[in-house]
Amino acid sequence: MSSLLQELEQLHREAAAALGQASTTPETEAWYAEYLGRKGKMTSVLRGLGQLPAGERPPIGKTANDIKVALELALQERQSALAESDMARALAAEGIDVTMPGRRPQIGSLHPTNQAMREIVGILVQMGFQVYDSPEVETDDFNFGLLNFPPDHPAREMQDTFFTTDKDVILRTHTSPGQIHAMRQYAPEPIRVILPGKCYRKEDVTARAEMMFYQVEGLAIGRTITFSDLKGTLLNFANQMYGAGRQIRFRKSFFPFTEPSVEVDVDCVLCGGKGCRLCKYTGWLEILGAGMVHPVVLKNGGYDPAVFSGFAFGMGIERQAMNKYGVDDIRLFYANDVRFLARV
Ligand code: FA5
Repeated sequence: MSSLLQELEQLHREAAAALGQASTTPETEAWYAEYLGRKGKMTSVLRGLGQLPAGERPPIGKTANDIKVALELALQERQSALAESDMARALAAEGIDVTMPGRRPQIGSLHPTNQAMREIVGILVQMGFQVYDSPEVETDDFNFGLLNFPPDHPAREMQDTFFTTDKDVILRTHTSPGQIHAMRQYAPEPIRVILPGKCYRKEDVTARAEMMFYQVEGLAIGRTITFSDLKGTLLNFANQMYGAGRQIRFRKSFFPFTEPSVEVDVDCVLCGGKGCRLCKYTGWLEILGAGMVHPVVLKNGGYDPAVFSGFAFGMGIERQAMNKYGVDDIRLFYANDVRFLARV
């Protein structure tokens, strides 16, 4: 065997062994440069073929060519095996384990004020009241004058007021001015409306009082409405809001726009009337102010008090929610602490 043939076979073995050692794609590329590239060992052997006598060239040339093809094939196989294992490794590293338990997304919940508001409005709508929207910014006249608050009367101090730069334009202190808007729109037809919305009072903020809070006002006007209708309506409301079999009681009170005026309590939802922390050991929870619409207010609304009568009531929404869910501090409602908001 010619020495070139031996050299070729030796190179074949060496190259095949070196390829077996290449364990990454860049290593196989380096291997290619070393053996098959332009300056590679195999290439330089092939170049030496030209020096051989003409008779030896064909068999050695063929062997050299076979070795080159065999090495190229081996390289392809090695590279595709490596590409597969690279892919398998990458998939394992980046893979998603579909059996892992998911992370529960935090979802919002209805604000406790809204929950109570929707419930209250729902009960009253189902009893035949219609929702009536009225403005939060009012004139002094609508908030007080037309509701029979005499000028400079001490009753105005019961509801400390936020004024705008115009002294006659104020943030409403209660939803009652909406009574006048509704009456003026519908008189002389009978009406049964509720007016939900925000109210503002310049109050010292305490566990029971906020500067901004919600009320729902109720107003019914017709030709034969009596105090019994008010009583029946409120008892029905209390039973639906706080559970069947509730008791209510009326305490004499004063509002300039109703006569007689009452404050209404429900027996404590927590202790059933025995006395506990929620009801301050009285057995009762105050739920609202109410009364028969004052004749002056009926007249201001466009109704003849000789023919028409009506009842009205107004309740604080947060206070209803406090009663119902046993919340002892109104400040929690607007402190934006999600632990409270999600708990109620
Ligand atoms: C009124 O506002 C009357 N307009 C209610 C009314 C309507 C009486 C129709 C008769 C006929 P009062 O000031 O008591 O009344 O407030 C009514 C309710 O609003 C209270 O019972 C309480 O639940 C709520 N409320 C009053 N002030 C605050 C406050 N600062 N923070 C939270 N809730 C309040």
